[in-house]
Amino acid sequence: MKKLFGISLITVITLFFTFSNYSIVLAGDSPHFVGVKTCGMCHKKDAKGNQLKVWKGSKHAKAYKTLQTAEADKIAKDKGFKTKAVETPECLSCHTVASNVDASLKGKKFKIEDGVQCEACHGAGSKYKKKSIMKDHAKAVAAGLTDFKDKATIQKKCETCHNKKSPSYKKFDFKKMWKEIAHNIPKK
Ligand code: HEC
Ligand code: HEC
Ligand code: HEC
Ligand code: HEC
Repeated sequence: MKKLFGISLITVITLFFTFSNYSIVLAGDSPHFVGVKTCGMCHKKDAKGNQLKVWKGSKHAKAYKTLQTAEADKIAKDKGFKTKAVETPECLSCHTVASNVDASLKGKKFKIEDGVQCEACHGAGSKYKKKSIMKDHAKAVAAGLTDFKDKATIQKKCETCHNKKSPSYKKFDFKKMWKEIAHNIPKK
């Protein structure tokens, strides 16, 4: 009996260390949000479609500022919120990226004020932002880049925000809306 107890105690201790190690690895392994400044460093060449410039000229870049207006505060109030629009989690959830994510998952250059920036659609970038990974689609996707394999996948992503939960919802015409923000790399 004594011997048996000794063995099971060792088993328990072994299991504990095995699993506690796993959870440490998992928690430290999630990609974090690096912010548009980081993506923009490499994606601002005109010959490659200057994604940074296209985004800066889009309403997505102003989505946070929109929440700082009197119009936004009125919308929030009419919906029964007691806080200013820019302090209301529901509004922030569509007008920014990672508003409800732990600070440890946001890099130094990440700014909530940047509104609906690159990682809103492409996914948190700390693990795929390296040039060698970015150039290899499969590696980038494995490192967290959203895989936009067809139009339906893209439209689904848009509709996570462009839907009836938006207080100012306008019917979402995907073709027209994508044209307004398209930032493809020009084909040679
Ligand atoms: C160190 C430079 C660098 C950084 C930083 C970087 N990229 Fe890239 N990215 C590239 C290169 C190089 C390519 C390959 C295409 C090309 O030559 O422009 C690429 C390709 C892409 C593609 C197309 C990949 C595919 O397989 O479909 C997307 C989308 C993209 N980047 C988004 C981002 C986002 C979002 C960020 C920020 C989180 C980012 N990139 C940060 C250099 C970079
Ligand atoms: C994270 C949420 C989010 C996602 C995902 C998103 N959008 Fe938006 N989009 C917004 C918000 C918020 C606004 C309004 C910004 C403002 O006016 O301040 C907006 C505005 C726009 C506008 C300007 C509309 C106008 O009235 O002028 C276009 C075009 C647009 N989005 C296209 C797209 C497309 C296409 C996709 C998918 C590829 C997409 N969006 C994905 C949140 C999102
Ligand atoms: C489900 C996502 C979502 C939520 C939640 C959301 N918005 Fe928006 N917001 C959008 C999108 C997308 C647009 C672009 C217009 C549309 O809905 O088609 C937008 C546009 C706006 C505009 C610009 C008005 C216009 O006509 O273009 C204001 C102001 C605004 N939102 C305020 C708010 C406030 C305040 C809240 C919180 C009470 C809020 N939004 C919550 C997605 C959202
Ligand atoms: C509203 C969503 C959204 C935002 C914001 C956004 N993108 Fe994209 N991006 C897409 C989608 C969807 C595609 C895929 C288009 C396709 O396959 O036709 C794409 C494609 C790309 C590509 C590859 C283009 C190609 O032709 O292969 C690059 C590079 C890229 N985005 C970089 C960026 C960068 C950098 C930012 C921020 C400055 C950004 N994107 C912001 C949705 C977005």
